[in-house]
Amino acid sequence: MPESYEFLSVAREGRVATVTVDRPDKLNALNDATVRELADAFAALRVDADVGGVILTGAGDKAFVAGADIGELSKMGPLDGVETSRRGQRTLRAIETLGKPVIAAVNGFALGGGLEIALACHLRVASQNARFGLPEVKLGIIPGYGGTIRLARLVGRGRALELILTGEMIDAEEAHRIGLANRVVPAGQAHAAAAEMMVTILRNGPVALAMALESVDAAYHGTTEDAQRLESNLFGLLAGTDDMREGMAAFLEKRAAEFEGR
Ligand code: COA
Repeated sequence: MPESYEFLSVAREGRVATVTVDRPDKLNALNDATVRELADAFAALRVDADVGGVILTGAGDKAFVAGADIGELSKMGPLDGVETSRRGQRTLRAIETLGKPVIAAVNGFALGGGLEIALACHLRVASQNARFGLPEVKLGIIPGYGGTIRLARLVGRGRALELILTGEMIDAEEAHRIGLANRVVPAGQAHAAAAEMMVTILRNGPVALAMALESVDAAYHGTTEDAQRLESNLFGLLAGTDDMREGMAAFLEKRAAEFEGR
């Protein structure tokens, strides 16, 4: 997989990779090529054993991602509309099921497909100048990258419908108040704060992190019965890992754990 893309950049620091959507002159709007590059980049990060977690952000200080590219969308017909939506949904689902924590560092506008990508990430750190919204109805469409599903699950149906039906934006404080943003930090510090959060997360057992993500995800999509069965199976599976022995031995011996991810 290429590490250099036309509309993305991928950087690494230690075990943390940062994917930056890089079209600042278009407020990082997602054209079709960018969605394809995101799919490629996350497919590569999934199998990269040196990467423990990923931060997703936008280039510049104005936008995270200001939505799908309206110039491209304006030309679509019904059949490529379905295809565009499905490709976006698949790509975002691949982010959501990466098996490693993904944090959105929301450094400005997160609108439409941009908010939908942030929703597919596991956590969202917002800078004070961030703005969140699903303005699709203003364009005569609806969110098509899973946003109608994920937003309601995250913040509740009433709040989700308010954003989806009005198409209006909310600021970072309001996003924090309704549980859309995990944290709000001063402008310009979203990436640094996300990186700090990731360091805290990556001190923990990698297998446990992957299984925690899988178990929480299963609860979203299945019945309580099925999710509980999976949770107990994953719990039992973790009891067979060196990481569990190490984590518990470290606690009992009053020292820091050194996990090896197995
Ligand atoms: N698709 C395509 N181009 C976009 C875009 C999008 N979603 N969002 C921004 N851009 C482009 C603008 O067309 C402009 O390009 P230009 O300089 O070639 O004319 C550039 O990015 C800068 O945006 P601009 O609108 O001039 O900035 P602003 O500060 O006046 O307004 C926004 C910022 C985010 C409020 C405004 O750009 C906007 O409403 N964007 C569309 C958001 C949207 O509806 N997203 C959902 C799409 S489904």
